[in-house]
Amino acid sequence: MNSLQFHYFRLVFLLGERPLLQLNSLAIFAGWVITPNILMLGSIDALSMALTRMLIFSEATILKAWKHVASLAMEDMIAWMQEGGQVGIFDATNSTRERRNMLMKMAEGNCKMIFLETLCNDKRIIERNIRLKIQQSPDYAEQPDFEAGYEDFKSRLDNYEKVYEPVEEGSYIKMIDMVSGNGGQIQVNNISGYLPGRIVFFLVNTHLTPRPILLTRHGESRHNLRGRIGGDSLLSDTGEIYAKKLSNFVEKRLKSEKAASIWTSTLQRTIQTAGPIVDFPKIQWRALDEINAGVCDGMTYEEIKRNMPEEYESRKNDKLRYRYPRGESYLDVIQRLEPVIIELERQRAPVVVISHQAVLRALYAYFADRPLKEIPHIEMPLHTIIEIQMGVTGVQEKRYKLMD
Ligand code: F6P
Repeated sequence: MNSLQFHYFRLVFLLGERPLLQLNSLAIFAGWVITPNILMLGSIDALSMALTRMLIFSEATILKAWKHVASLAMEDMIAWMQEGGQVGIFDATNSTRERRNMLMKMAEGNCKMIFLETLCNDKRIIERNIRLKIQQSPDYAEQPDFEAGYEDFKSRLDNYEKVYEPVEEGSYIKMIDMVSGNGGQIQVNNISGYLPGRIVFFLVNTHLTPRPILLTRHGESRHNLRGRIGGDSLLSDTGEIYAKKLSNFVEKRLKSEKAASIWTSTLQRTIQTAGPIVDFPKIQWRALDEINAGVCDGMTYEEIKRNMPEEYESRKNDKLRYRYPRGESYLDVIQRLEPVIIELERQRAPVVVISHQAVLRALYAYFADRPLKEIPHIEMPLHTIIEIQMGVTGVQEKRYKLMD
């Protein structure tokens, strides 16, 4: 039988006016239910932890309790979808046919369902993931003894293996040996429609290889100095100093990372900020350009308030949806960032993204799991690097303030 592997996935659907849905799931051996209405279901993992602690009970009691909790979670998800939720991820092992049948019955008439199964035969990856899980997962935060945690997790896997029945029913996606990045196979059964197609596309492009993504705004620009928005100005003297500091930082931080790359927008201030970095290839993305302020481009906020008070008020009232006349809204920016996000998910080497305030707010929100409505208000200071570490148990963040 195939060995089991746990997998972390991040799905984002940037659907224009619809909410940005960011779905995280950690499945020990993923048998997920994805429905065309989407929701992020609170982690069954945490519930399963609580249940594991109930080992004083007999096996039958545990199984009964487990089943009860799983069906409560599923009921919750269905209720959420009836209130307008779009896609739900039921994060659980669902490794037996009986369990999956139970879920399918509950879903009948309420939502469509896709099972997602990930299989891994590479012993080294399983070993690496178990170790990372013990080190990083909240499941083992209260277990100071690494070896005890390791044994516990191994026995959890053994127990799953004993009862495991491969998914062969309904709509499913099977990812077989895809995490290593050396080929693998994806099996898709009975999947059709726009959203399920997007899910398959996302899954084909994502992976768990740990790697950092460094996000930074360009150095201070001449427009920043004058409080002007947009435009395509060069860096101020201070901005140039930041460019040098950033280059030193990147060269030290990524010195052993030969395949790293530097991504900028097509605007001069980001290209100039990347200028002193010489050891890595640079890629310009139009999608990383700053929010287009349309008729307000080059103005100060004061000037907008004075000359176009209605525009100023509308933006203040709904910064997320407000679209500058002949320009963009935050929702527009989020939507145009989708190919960048997919490409970032695909990268196995570190990436340094040098971009702009509004764009980085949206990118950061994606990785940091921040809700859509907060995006336009996220603090994104100049001269600061946000390092995001992507990995098996999710995303960790560090900040480096290189200057004021
Ligand atoms: O002020 C710098 C800047 O990058 C402008 O070019 C851009 O319009 C603005 O930030 C975006 O921030 P906000 O959405 O808060 O106006």
